[in-house]
Amino acid sequence: MMQSLPGFRDFFPEEFAKRNYILTRWRQVARQYGFIEMDGPVLESTELYEKKNESGAEILTQLYLFEDRGGRRVAMRPEMTPTLARMVIARERHYRKPLKWFSIASYFRYERQQKGRLREFVQFNADIIGDQSAGSDAELIAMVIDQLRALGFGAADIVVRLSDRRAWTEFLSSCGCVESVIPKVMAVIDKIERETPEALEAKLVGTGVSLTALQDFIAGPSPSAFDAILAELRARGLSDFVEVDLSIVRGLAYYSGLVFEVFDRGRAGRALAGGGRYDRLLADLSDGAVDLPAIGFGMGDVVVANLIDDTPPALAQRNAAIAADPAVEIYCIVADESRRSEAIALVQSIRDAGHRCEFPFLPMKTGKQFQAAEASGARAAILVGAEWPEIKIKDLAARTEQIIPHTALAEWLQSKAS
Ligand code: HAM
Repeated sequence: MMQSLPGFRDFFPEEFAKRNYILTRWRQVARQYGFIEMDGPVLESTELYEKKNESGAEILTQLYLFEDRGGRRVAMRPEMTPTLARMVIARERHYRKPLKWFSIASYFRYERQQKGRLREFVQFNADIIGDQSAGSDAELIAMVIDQLRALGFGAADIVVRLSDRRAWTEFLSSCGCVESVIPKVMAVIDKIERETPEALEAKLVGTGVSLTALQDFIAGPSPSAFDAILAELRARGLSDFVEVDLSIVRGLAYYSGLVFEVFDRGRAGRALAGGGRYDRLLADLSDGAVDLPAIGFGMGDVVVANLIDDTPPALAQRNAAIAADPAVEIYCIVADESRRSEAIALVQSIRDAGHRCEFPFLPMKTGKQFQAAEASGARAAILVGAEWPEIKIKDLAARTEQIIPHTALAEWLQSKAS
C-alpha cells in the first residue's frame, strides 16, 4: 500500500478536527490581541536563507532544496521569519507601526525522526515589527500564554523561560571571549542540558570560556533586563507562567536580545514555542535600507497536540469541543418519496438559516434513514411524510417528538439556537 513519506502526515477527518481545534484557538486569541493575519509563499529562493546565514547553520542542513524547471535554486520554507522580513522590507511604508502580524502555515524541515519533530508541521507565528519596548515583549509572551490557556493548560502545565542574548554577549565579552567565537559559545549553551560535560568542554576549547563559568552565570542572579517584562506580566496576572532561565539561547542565529521558549513543566517534550528579538535582521537583509526592530515567536502544532494528549483536563476539553461541533445538526428524513421536493426545499431553508443539515440522496427505508441520522451526530431528525404540510421533529437525544406545521420550522430552529 502507498504511504505518506516519513515525517509527513495524512489528516483524516478525525485528525483534522484535532488540528483545527488548535488552529482555531490560536487564531481566536491572536485576533483578541489585535494581530492581523498574513501569509507568504511555500517556496522561496534558497538565497533568502543563505544570505548572511541569518537563520543559522543547523536549519540550512535541514532545507528541502531543489532546482526548479527554470534552473532556480529554491527551498521549501523551513520557517516564516525570513519571508516575513522580506515582505516587510518590500512594503513597510504602507503600514502604520508597529505591525502586529500573525500567520498559520505549514513548514518543512528535513529533521531526524524523533518525538515532537516531523518534516512537515504547522506553525503559528506572531511578530511585532517597529517597536523596541518591553511592552511588545510582554504582549507576545502574554499572547502565547493565553493561546495555551485557551487550549486548557494552566501554570502547573506550562512555563515560559526567558533569557537574553545581549546579557550573554556582555558576560562573554567580560570573560574575554572575542566577538567571532560568541556564536560558537551560544551553540554550546543551546546544548547545555542535552550533551555531556565532556562533549561541551571539548567544544569550548579555544573560546576563552569554561563550562563552569557558563554554568555559574546560569545559576547566578537574573539580570535586570527582565524587570519591565516581568512587571507587565504580573499586571496581567500571568507571572506564574514565567521564569528567567539563562540556559535558553535558541538555535536560530538572528536573535539579538530577549529570547524565550515555552516548555511543559515536566519537560518531557520539546519546546512548544520559541521566539525572541531580532532587531538587526531587517537591516541585514535589506543592506541597511529598512532598519526596524522586531520580536516574534513560532509555536508548532505537533508538540502542542502531544501535550494535549498527555494532559487529562486539556484532553477532556478538546474532546468535548469536538463532540459539540458535529458535522450535521439536523437530518431530514424523506419518509414519503412523493414529498422529496418539499423535503429538499426544507433542507435548503434550514441551510440558509445557517444550520448544518443533511438528507439521503436516494430513496431509503425510514428505519435506515433514522440510523443514518443517529450516525451523523445530528441533534434532531425532521420527517417529511404523510403529515405534510405538517412535519414531525424528533429530538434524537431526548427521544421526544413533536408535530408542527412546516411553515413554523424557522421559528423552531431559532428557539433551538438560543
Ligand atoms: P523554532 O524554534 O525553530 O523557531 O520553531 C518554533 C516551534 O515550532 C518549535 O518550538 C516547535 O514547536 C515547532 N517546530 C519546529 N520545528 C519542528 C519540527 N520539525 N516538527 C514539529 N514542530 C516543529 C522558529 O521557527 C522561529 N522562526 C520563530 C520566530 C518567529 N521567531 C521570531 N518570529
